[in-house]
Amino acid sequence: MKNIIDEATLAQAIDLLRSGQVIAIPTETVYGLAADAENELAVRKIFAVKGRPADHPLIVHLAKDVPLEGWAEDVPQVAHKLAEAFWPGPLTMILRRGPKAAPAVTGGLATIGLRVPSHPVAQQLLKSFGGGLAAPSANRFGRVSPTTAGHVQSELSEAIPLILDGGPCNVGIESTIVDLSSDYIAILRPGVITAEQIEQVIGMPLVAASASAPRVSGSLESHYAPAAGVEIHNAETAMARAMKLEMLGKKVGVIGHYELLYSIPVESMMSQTIMPLPIDMTPQGFARDLYATLRIGDANKCDVVIVVPPPEEGIGVAIADRLRKSAAPRE
Ligand code: TXA
Ligand code: MG
Repeated sequence: MKNIIDEATLAQAIDLLRSGQVIAIPTETVYGLAADAENELAVRKIFAVKGRPADHPLIVHLAKDVPLEGWAEDVPQVAHKLAEAFWPGPLTMILRRGPKAAPAVTGGLATIGLRVPSHPVAQQLLKSFGGGLAAPSANRFGRVSPTTAGHVQSELSEAIPLILDGGPCNVGIESTIVDLSSDYIAILRPGVITAEQIEQVIGMPLVAASASAPRVSGSLESHYAPAAGVEIHNAETAMARAMKLEMLGKKVGVIGHYELLYSIPVESMMSQTIMPLPIDMTPQGFARDLYATLRIGDANKCDVVIVVPPPEEGIGVAIADRLRKSAAPRE
């Protein structure tokens, strides 16, 4: 993570944002495509650049210690507790919206997603900018979120005037989204801040999110999808499946423990028909590196990537969520 950007680049970023442009910014989770949240035309540009349907609401990013007045209304006590515990950090709270955000931000919903990111460059920018920045992940709609400036460059450089480079993101998957806008508190999108951590702070159990309730674009079935097909396996079935696919003429990437990568047959390794895609297997490391590793599979023209993920507990819940969406049938 690069800690700071120079004054000239910061000034350029602020000028662009003030004049209604869209720029890419680093956050600790993934890179975002940011615009002035109070400028309707600027926010609409985000949807155009991303190719995202206009009824998918955006998260508004705020500087540390900015009051929520104007952005949200009827803010419940638990929201303050959660902010105290997890902001700045990878938590988005859905609250009742105030008048400040441009209508396009929330796509007509009565609620708004707010987050205070911890990345020093994001904070530096938000503090100088003074207002809120609406920002979805800086990828084209449905694709894998970018975790380096280079990822954004390869996908969107023609469409935006500036990409702020804050180094590789150290969380690597999108923020946990918790809905505090109704009587029942629910997680709409799991992340590295886990349900257990949230329950501990609010002192009550969360309810299961209903699929029909608020709109979370990441809750569409196919999402976070690389060009390669993704298959989730366990350690016992993974290599047999890889070899089956190889026999069918496919190029296969494998993400999993070293034991598994070492079991790739030498001939397959030499011919690169089955290739190891090494990754840190701690839940935190896996989350941090997952999207970048899927992109390496794409860069190597893998037809299919076989993944043996860490157990589905703690951060593993968010990893399983993203992998299921990457693996979901497309169109
Ligand atoms: O970590 C993150 O949250 C990253 C970085 C850039 O901050 N942002 C991100 O944005 O993942 P995006 O647009 O890719 O995903 C935001 C999610 C969407 O699924 C959207 O539907 C949901 O937040 N969302 C935003 N406002 C909402 C609202 N008022 N009610 C329900 N869901 C909302
Ligand atoms: Mg996204």
